[in-house]
Amino acid sequence: DSLLHVKPKKKGFKFTPIETTNKDELVLPKGFKYDVVAAYGDVINGKGDTFGFNNDFTLYFPIQNSNERGLLWVNHEYTNPLYVEGEKVNGKYAPTQIEKLLYNQGGSIIEVYYDKKVNKWKMDATSTYARRVTGLTSFALTGPAKGTKVVNGATSVQGTFANCSGGKTLWNTVLSCEENFEETANNAGLNQTHYGWVIEVDPFDPNFAVRKHTALGRFNHENASMGLAKDQRVVVYMGDDKKDACVYKFVSKDKYVPALGKANSRLLEEGNLYVADFKKGRWIALTIEAVQKAAAGKPELLEKFQTQGDVVTNCQEAALLLGGTPTDRPEDVEISPFDSSIFIAHTNNDKHGNLHGHITRFIEKKGDHGATEFEYEIFAAGGRQSGFSAPDNLTFDSNANLWTVTDISSSSLNQGAWTSFGNNGMFVIPTVGQDKGIAWQFAAAPMDAELTGPCFTPNEKTLFLSVQHPGEETEDINNPTSTWPHRKGEKMPRPAVVAITGFKF
Ligand code: FEO
Ligand code: CA
Ligand code: CA
Ligand code: CA
Repeated sequence: DSLLHVKPKKKGFKFTPIETTNKDELVLPKGFKYDVVAAYGDVINGKGDTFGFNNDFTLYFPIQNSNERGLLWVNHEYTNPLYVEGEKVNGKYAPTQIEKLLYNQGGSIIEVYYDKKVNKWKMDATSTYARRVTGLTSFALTGPAKGTKVVNGATSVQGTFANCSGGKTLWNTVLSCEENFEETANNAGLNQTHYGWVIEVDPFDPNFAVRKHTALGRFNHENASMGLAKDQRVVVYMGDDKKDACVYKFVSKDKYVPALGKANSRLLEEGNLYVADFKKGRWIALTIEAVQKAAAGKPELLEKFQTQGDVVTNCQEAALLLGGTPTDRPEDVEISPFDSSIFIAHTNNDKHGNLHGHITRFIEKKGDHGATEFEYEIFAAGGRQSGFSAPDNLTFDSNANLWTVTDISSSSLNQGAWTSFGNNGMFVIPTVGQDKGIAWQFAAAPMDAELTGPCFTPNEKTLFLSVQHPGEETEDINNPTSTWPHRKGEKMPRPAVVAITGFKF
């Protein structure tokens, strides 16, 4: 614990851990409750826009510093034809189906508030901020790939989809990550190179052009965690959720100037993109010069990699070419607010028999996020001993607990190697003290669901959480495997965002 520079609160955080379960319910410890704030299909504003499908990352933006009213950015990762667009006809989607497919992915900006009269969190559907960003919204491209041949000369592109996790910038905008974009791009007949980027949105300002920052690379982006180098350059850590894929960081060319506010967004347009070499503990810069040197004598590669735009667009290939270490599906990467170490959830990789995944921790040289050398260790391993399998999103509380949600695939839950884990869950893992590395289960998801995007309000009295894909294994729509959130008069399972209360930190 010698790296600590911020002391965890003394009070501690106590709860009675729950048992594993396969109940069709969001199960919480005694003394906690949840309110459903928005579910698929709910109207979010006066225009009649609706909440998208399979909500994932959530990010709370206080309105006037309030812990009881704010905007909530929510990612929508993918759709399920059974509930959204319907099945293909003759192997193809009709234009109206494609529209549904694209509309129900992307993100939602909703306004949420705590209604003291009934002690419940609710969505304010009269909000003037509430709006959708979807697979149909026009995006500006920034950075090295903008306007180049590899993206067909595009300077703006259609839509965002496959939005998994994300992060908050230092200037109070949201970064949202395009992850498994390939299938939707294919189904909608869209250019593959226009997706797989990190997007930026200002939830408060519809006039802030939504943008895709190509300098941060194109891959199967899970999340984006922003920090500062000691010399004030902006650093963004990123995972690439694919088997045998790498961990990345972007370091801006210029320094962060707080007084410039949202104009700091420009910092994400120019800088160095690095890939992690875990064996040598070094960050390798993905530059066109380095790639061309490594590609010498290989005409096919030299043809492919001619500009920095080609490098960021074909990032996975460039990373492996230069010596990036393939890892076991790096999902969330988060910077500890207590000691500047960085945690990565490697969810699993059945290619190597890593069925339960692990959480890695690495420490940059001298604790500087701008460093090009680091050390690393396995912080916690999934499995029966720890009680969790397939760690995915990560977040911290003020007691230096790492919270992780798990994502055992819905088709594997409660069987085979995953029998004893029950439904997916959420776990609390102390990162300091005598319980360091021990996972305590805080929540369990309804049938087939995964819990995603945990986000505390600043006072930590509320935790927003997505319940994604309940009932995903349903074959007969009249007999779904889950009916959560158990709305009166319907059997349909609906992905939904909940607000959990009952915290006493
Ligand atoms: Fe969409 Fe990597 O989880
Ligand atoms: Ca995820
Ligand atoms: Ca996952
Ligand atoms: Ca998911």
